[in-house]
Amino acid sequence: MQVLLIGSGGREHALAMALSKSPHLARLFAAPGNPGMAALAECVALDVADHAAVSAFCRKQGIDLVVIGPEVPLVAGLVDVLVVQGIACFGPSKAAARLEGSKGFTKRICNAAGIPTAQYDACDQLAPALDALARRGAPLVVKADGLAAGKGVVVAETAAEAEAALRAIFTGPGASVVLEEKLEGEEVSFFALCDGHNALYFGSAQDHKRIGEGDTGPNTGGMGAYAPAPRMTPELVEEVMARIIRPTLAEMNRRGTPFAGMLFAGLMLTADGPKLIEFNTRFGDPETQVLLPLLEDDLLGLLDASAHGRLPAQSPALSGGVALTVVLAARGYPAAPQTGGVLTGIEAAAALPGVIITQAGTAMKQGHIVATGGRVLNVTALGATYDEAASRAYGALATLTYADGIWRRDIGWRVRTAAS
Ligand code: AMP
Ligand code: GLY
Repeated sequence: MQVLLIGSGGREHALAMALSKSPHLARLFAAPGNPGMAALAECVALDVADHAAVSAFCRKQGIDLVVIGPEVPLVAGLVDVLVVQGIACFGPSKAAARLEGSKGFTKRICNAAGIPTAQYDACDQLAPALDALARRGAPLVVKADGLAAGKGVVVAETAAEAEAALRAIFTGPGASVVLEEKLEGEEVSFFALCDGHNALYFGSAQDHKRIGEGDTGPNTGGMGAYAPAPRMTPELVEEVMARIIRPTLAEMNRRGTPFAGMLFAGLMLTADGPKLIEFNTRFGDPETQVLLPLLEDDLLGLLDASAHGRLPAQSPALSGGVALTVVLAARGYPAAPQTGGVLTGIEAAAALPGVIITQAGTAMKQGHIVATGGRVLNVTALGATYDEAASRAYGALATLTYADGIWRRDIGWRVRTAAS
């Protein structure tokens, strides 16, 4: 098969590695890709927002499957444009990507399908939002509707904080907000591969969203992750499939907008059972960097089956081991990352036992890898235990040289017994 992979981050580098292992892969293109992916794929400078250009490329190259990594092209409807031309895509249609694109839409799906989630009010004006705040009181979670790259959510501990967040959202026309009860518990990332009708459990992970050690400071795209999430027992997996994932697929079908692709549920494991915090309609970043090394089945076959509505009956086989990834970021991330610094030692680190390096925000300049983004690369390691994976990942990280690098030393603190 000829495959076009869309995206340029660590998630897409991990996807490229897993796709490259497939016996069915003939040729892999990446748009735009990154220097790490260039070893596995032919990187092409396509403007992904230009849907006509993407479809022209696919027709010219005879692409059999387009794999879309990030959410922006999904929410923009790239899948719809390609599918009407007979080009198969892994990822949901624009209508189904609303599960990620609109928090209000997801709340309505939860209501219609009886899915456990936080109680909420959705408001499209400041005055009713302030009324809802007065009624609910603090703590309260304020979420701007629409894609916000992790920045649209304020967990307000006081009414004053919640009010300030609301006033910041309602500065112009067209704003809308979801106000919801704060859930207490442990967060888990839960992945279900879907083909419109059926869903297969694809694994679980936990990520660290905050920039600072001890899970403090501003939210980021994710500073590290590990898989599997030890709290996800087979019984809990089945409960989430039965109470959250399958009802969502049924409701999307009932509305005539079936969901195919990766359904990534952000869950809170509360004292009353698992509750949905949010859906994403794609692989997670950095969760993918720890999920895919544990996958024992052929990723390309699974993504192709999802795209064609014919998933197998059995969930994919996952190895019994664990994986842990640490994000190497640029100083100043997330507010103002300092880009341009040179990284060395990547190849030697990647050659260490059980270590996988994926590039996330890099470019090749005059023969050197330089940082171009906030999250620069991911150091992932496999192990029999979380301690072993952490000690390998941190050992590999110590061999890299990158003067501007920052990273958290406590990734996996919930599951590690020893400090690295
Ligand atoms: P979201 O963009 O909806 O995933 O929210 C970002 C983060 O805010 C989540 O990962 C949670 O840590 C936190 N969060 C969102 N909604 C809630 C909630 N209802 N209760 C507690 N924490 C929440
Ligand atoms: N790591 C969370 C996300 O991919 O949205």
